[in-house]
Amino acid sequence: MTPKIVRNVTSLRRETARWRTEGLTYAIVPTMGALHEGHLDLVREGFKRADRVLVSIFVNPKQFGAKEDLSHYPRDEEGDVEKLNQEGVPLIYAPTSDSIYPLDFSTTVHIEGPAKVGLEDKYRPHFFDGVATIVSKLFIQSGANYAMFGEKDYQQLLVVTRVAKDLDIPTEVVGIATRREVDGLAMSSRNRYLSKTERGHATAIHKNLQQAAEKIRGGINQQTATRAASRSLTTLGFKVDYVTARNAETLAVPQNPDEPLRLLAAAWLGKTRLIDNIAV
Ligand code: PAF
Repeated sequence: MTPKIVRNVTSLRRETARWRTEGLTYAIVPTMGALHEGHLDLVREGFKRADRVLVSIFVNPKQFGAKEDLSHYPRDEEGDVEKLNQEGVPLIYAPTSDSIYPLDFSTTVHIEGPAKVGLEDKYRPHFFDGVATIVSKLFIQSGANYAMFGEKDYQQLLVVTRVAKDLDIPTEVVGIATRREVDGLAMSSRNRYLSKTERGHATAIHKNLQQAAEKIRGGINQQTATRAASRSLTTLGFKVDYVTARNAETLAVPQNPDEPLRLLAAAWLGKTRLIDNIAV
């Protein structure tokens, strides 16, 4: 059966109420569309935990800055529906912008903590309040038991986990490992912006993170290892925003040698901004 598409919260609630009445659990996979295998992994993991999976598709204007790629962000609803049909997704929530943000919409969910650590927040100051606002709405609107997020956006994963906890939203946030292309490049809807040459170079982000992680595991100082990765990316033509080692749970700058570490990187290749991260 092809997925049912609903465009506003009233229709969404009608469908999810039916599931709850039947005693079914359900997961939401929040997306901005232009779906790739990484999103489909989230769907598959959702089905492992819940009886039903619903996918939201909404390019959220509140998380884009004035100079960012909102108007060019890839959109392919027909292709997305086809992919979700193949995965057996019964329900797609693709709300209109007016139904999410009517003209008199006046509320923003503002988050500090993992959203203020000098990583994505430094380069995209609007981003996390925009994400916190839309995911709060999606969790509250859907009442889902689970919400599936990729680890590729690691800071986002910590932010949405914090939002659900702080606002007592009973949706369990589940993080899923990054899906990679065969050469290691993390899958992202923005990868389609890369030229053929850039695509060839893009794998260097993951390779340099892996090399830095190996060095740190081998006893080399974190800063020395991440600086070498940053230099190597710059030499290859990237414009590096950051390559850094942070506490994996808080994203604070590590203070002692026993902390769990996450290496995170963001860099521009031409007009495309790539992010990635790995555990140490
Ligand atoms: O990761 C994304 O695609 C977006 O930030 C999300 C979580 C769907 C919120 O708009």
